[in-house]
Amino acid sequence: MTRKALSVGELKINDSRCIRCQRCVKICPAGIFYEDNGRICIKNESSCIFCGHCVAVCPKDAVEHAAFPNGSVHPFSLADLPSPEQLMLLIKSRRSNRAFSGKEIPEESFRMIMAAAAAAPTAQNSRDVHFVLVRKPETLRAVTEYTLDSFMKVVRLLDNRFMRMLLGRKLAGVYKLIPKFKEMYRRFHAGEGDMILRDAKAVLFIYSSEKSRFGAADCNLAYQNASLMAESLGVAQFYTGFVLAALERDKHGRLNAILGLKNVKIHAGMAMALPLFRFEKYIDRENV
Ligand SMILES: Cc1cc2nc3c(=O)[nH]c(=O)nc-3n(C[C@H](O)[C@H](O)[C@H](O)COP(=O)(O)O)c2cc1C
Repeated sequence: MTRKALSVGELKINDSRCIRCQRCVKICPAGIFYEDNGRICIKNESSCIFCGHCVAVCPKDAVEHAAFPNGSVHPFSLADLPSPEQLMLLIKSRRSNRAFSGKEIPEESFRMIMAAAAAAPTAQNSRDVHFVLVRKPETLRAVTEYTLDSFMKVVRLLDNRFMRMLLGRKLAGVYKLIPKFKEMYRRFHAGEGDMILRDAKAVLFIYSSEKSRFGAADCNLAYQNASLMAESLGVAQFYTGFVLAALERDKHGRLNAILGLKNVKIHAGMAMALPLFRFEKYIDRENV
């Protein structure tokens, strides 16, 4: 998942268009542009991180970057951005809605949710954020089974007198969850409901390469974009924290194998379905 460095000639200034406004000089995070005798020049293009700032900021389309040909640069009007009030309303009205209907999510909604996720920033613009959209009922079921099995391993390990005496205080939080884990397991296997994925129609798992230093941050920023887009589209979603908790204990790459992934680390997951109903009020929330 490494990108080829930009070579000499792949980044050019079109002198006949350039008005020497120096926006590229000021915006480039890698310091590739400089002015020399009234001309904008380029040095060390191999340090380009492909953020596209130079192309997007140029008022005269004078920056020619091989990675951003015509068609990949989209002018827009600032007046078309959502107002702060509209954005705040979206942020405050976004909820984890687990009251799912059995209806199918439109393909266009999946496309927009994933496009929103893929547009999130990544550290050093690595773009090392990838997606697997799980929709097959048998794979979704396998993800729930995997999660419950992982929890039951913890239950079997800790739920005895000796371990309670040894670790009861230290792991009070985990011990509190044991009855909950047992009940989730029982209900799932009795056909009384899936408290892990809540009968979601799809899960979007977001992953980076195993060694990515900022993989967790990158993937979770992508998640947040995706969740806001889901809310805007009327798709119900929640964060699959239980699955990720199971993944933390997974030394053998079992979840990756279920999903057909290799040498990657999953950092976020979004369960989705169409909602039975939508929230029409938001509440005030304080951090405690
Ligand atoms: C890191 C994280 C993990 C979560 N894990 C789960 C989960 O496994 N199952 C679930 O139903 N909700 C999960 N949630 C959703 C939270 O329970 C939810 O955000 C919280 O109750 C507040 O509700 P809201 O999202 O509607 O504001 C998770 C949220 C976060 C941020």
